[in-house]
Amino acid sequence: RPIYVLNGPNLNLLGTRRPEVYGTTTLADIEAAVRARAGAAGWDVAFHQTNHEGVLVDLIQEARTAGAAIVINPAALTHYSIAVHDALEAAELPVVEVHLSNVHRREAFRHTSYVSLQADAVIAGAGAQGYELALDWLLRTLGEPAG
Ligand code: DQA
Repeated sequence: RPIYVLNGPNLNLLGTRRPEVYGTTTLADIEAAVRARAGAAGWDVAFHQTNHEGVLVDLIQEARTAGAAIVINPAALTHYSIAVHDALEAAELPVVEVHLSNVHRREAFRHTSYVSLQADAVIAGAGAQGYELALDWLLRTLGEPAG
């Protein structure tokens, strides 16, 4: 079973985008850390970022076909995308929702998550480490890769 790590709009700007909120770690740094951790545990990783809602839906459908586990930071789409919600619902896969920032301590429009309705676990405010925590949780919950 592969692990799909999916990132939504503007996360390609990590490192330079509001570092006081999102940190100085780049998405490439996060990808390297994720690949190292999952690789050591014998899991294949598909890592993607897109600024487009429909592409994110396509990627979730691809994960569904692959029978993957999903780590997803849907970024702003978290707060309004019924299409992302429905894609996750249809996928019926293990899902961990990650946010770098603690969205609950921010603007009210960030307090609603359509994605949390479909997430098994939610990590917010742990910065880039959140992705590794999500992986650790999945690896412990799912056990060894099936082969
Ligand atoms: C985010 C939080 C969202 O509210 C925001 O739109 C993002 C990033 C985070 O990782 O903290 O783009 O998902």
